[in-house]
Order: sequence, then C-alpha cells, then structure tokens
Amino acid sequence: MKLAELLDIDLKKIDREMTWMIKADLDLPMFFGIAGNIIHMIEAGGKRLRPMMVIVGSRFGRITDPKLVLRLAAVTEFIHVASLIHDDVIDKAETRRGQPTLHVKTDVQTAVYTANYMMARVVELLAAQEQEQEDNSYLKELSGLLTSQLCLGEYQQMNNRFNFDLPMETYLSKTRNKTAILMSSCLEVGAKLAKADEEVVCKLSQFGDHLGMAFQIRDDMLDFIQTSAVLGKPAGSDLANGNITLPVLYALQDERLAPKVRRLNDNSTQEEIGQVVSDIVNSKILHMVDKTAEEYLSAARKIAEELVDFRASKDLEILLAYFGKRVF
Ligand code: FPP
Ligand code: MG
Repeated sequence: MKLAELLDIDLKKIDREMTWMIKADLDLPMFFGIAGNIIHMIEAGGKRLRPMMVIVGSRFGRITDPKLVLRLAAVTEFIHVASLIHDDVIDKAETRRGQPTLHVKTDVQTAVYTANYMMARVVELLAAQEQEQEDNSYLKELSGLLTSQLCLGEYQQMNNRFNFDLPMETYLSKTRNKTAILMSSCLEVGAKLAKADEEVVCKLSQFGDHLGMAFQIRDDMLDFIQTSAVLGKPAGSDLANGNITLPVLYALQDERLAPKVRRLNDNSTQEEIGQVVSDIVNSKILHMVDKTAEEYLSAARKIAEELVDFRASKDLEILLAYFGKRVF
C-alpha cells in the first residue's frame, strides 16, 4: 500500500490546490513557460511527503480548517520543489527520479525563474493569509524563517566543498537546515493550525526533525550504494561535487581510508572518485552511517510513544515505518 493510502490522504486534493496556486494568479499568463513548467511538474506527480506531514500534524489538534490545511500543505510542496530546481542547477544534475531536470528540459535561466516564481508565490499567499488571520504565528515558520534556513544549509554545503576538516556539528547543522527543518515545520505548522497544545506541537516538531535527519543521512548513503539508473544521477555525485556527507566524515576517521579521501579535489577523475566510493562501500562505514540514521529513528519512535493517547499517533507509526525502510 502507498503511504498516502495508509495515511488516508487524497493526493489529488493536494495537486488541485497546487494548481490553484498558479491559476489564481491573474498576473501569470497561462501560456508562459513558467506556468507550463509548474503544471507539468504537478502532473508528473511525486511523493508529496511534506504536504502529508502538514495534514498529519493537523490531526493532533482540536480545530481543523481543512481548506487552510490543504493550502499550507500545497505551499510546503512548492517550497520543496522550488528548492530542488535550484539544487539541480547548483549540482549540475541532469536527471531527478529518472527524468530530465527542468534546467536540462528548458535552460538554466528558465528553471531559475520558475523556482523563483514559486517561492515568490508562496510568500504572496502567506502574506495574504497573515492579513486574514489573527492567530498566525505558524506562518512565520513557513515564510522567511524556513526558506532562509534552506538557503543557509545549501550555502554551508557549498562553502565546505572538499573541506575534509569539516566538524561533525557543521555537517549536522547543514543537514538540519537543508532537510530536517522543513520536515519538522510541516508537522508543526499542521499542528499549530489545528490549535494543538503547545507541548504536542513541540513533540511533533522534534519528531519531524529526527525523521528529517534520518531521511537526509539515508539519502547521503544512497549516493554511494545505488546505481545511477536507480538513483537518477551518477553514483558518487555528492563526493564528485565535493559535498562532505556522513560516509565521507566516517571515512576520514578511518586510518586506511582517510589519506585516499584527502587526495580528492575538484580535478579528480571519475576513476579516482569511483575508487574511493567503492573503498567506502567495501568497508564497515555504511553500517556505521546506517546506525546513526537508526539512532535518529529511535529517538523519533520514543517521541511517537509519548503521543499514543492521540488517535493520529498511528500516523506517526506509519511515517516511521516509511522513513525507516532500510536502504542498506
Ligand atoms: C537536496 O539536496 C536539496 C535540498 C534538500 C535543499 C536545496 C535548497 C536550496 C538549493 C535553496 C533554495 C532556496 C530557494 C529560495 C529557492 P541533495 O542534493 O543532497 O539531494 P538530492 O540527492 O535530492 O539532489
Ligand atoms: Mg542535489
């Protein structure tokens, strides 16, 4: 069964809301490439993980305005997709989920304008919402705060390219900024919208943070173990781009592997990168990385147990099972 079915969420409603986000913008001509790109992206589908997390969060409250929950759920997907369009330009990724990336299908300028428009539209809609509602503290979460963290996370990553002395705390803070904060905000915003108790909001936020950390750590692992056909991009791309992920940090703690890793730089050949990737794959490092991801999942599980009195706690179990799927 698909995650949406397990959570009893109709993804079509989320897609319809995303389509509304652009159709309701009378300043955006529908014949513009930007509109076509976004409609195409919506039709192409996706996991819609983040919108589902907003909906799950809202199930922990007393009052729910389904229309508003859906609006904010769609907003989170816009933020996510826009950030991936930028990410693919920055990473020079030619494919994502097996499909050509937007900048490959169109051009870099069009892709950047499309993503910028999506982010701007999010700000516009959130600002309109802010005027409509009295208690709108949750909007702060999704507007400036969250998007600036995404940018900071990516900047931390770029700023540390081939920095083999990257402290673990910097890696963790980068990971939190680029991935975990969005996930924790989704649950938090949903819960706040539904006027859940502050303590519950806080627990859901922590739960989302731990899931997000495990998710990104596993994603970093996949870059080492999956073939390019499955990954939709060449294996070892992160390392070739100089991104210091957890497998690399653990390899640097290994006397035998560290000198090989340290030799890599911007001019390293595909063979040199491939050799280090297979050295890491053939060592115990990925087991160590997986263990770290498991630790985050256990911490999330503990929080879910504290929320068992809520009917929606079964949704947390479902999310845990989904995020906890082993990649190794
Ligand atoms: C994927 O990382 C990328 C992110 C989780 C965030 C990217 C964010 C930005 C580029 C900032 C964008 C900000 C604005 C305002 C548009 P990855 O490369 O590790 O994952 P991948 O394997 O999915 O590419
Ligand atoms: Mg990328």
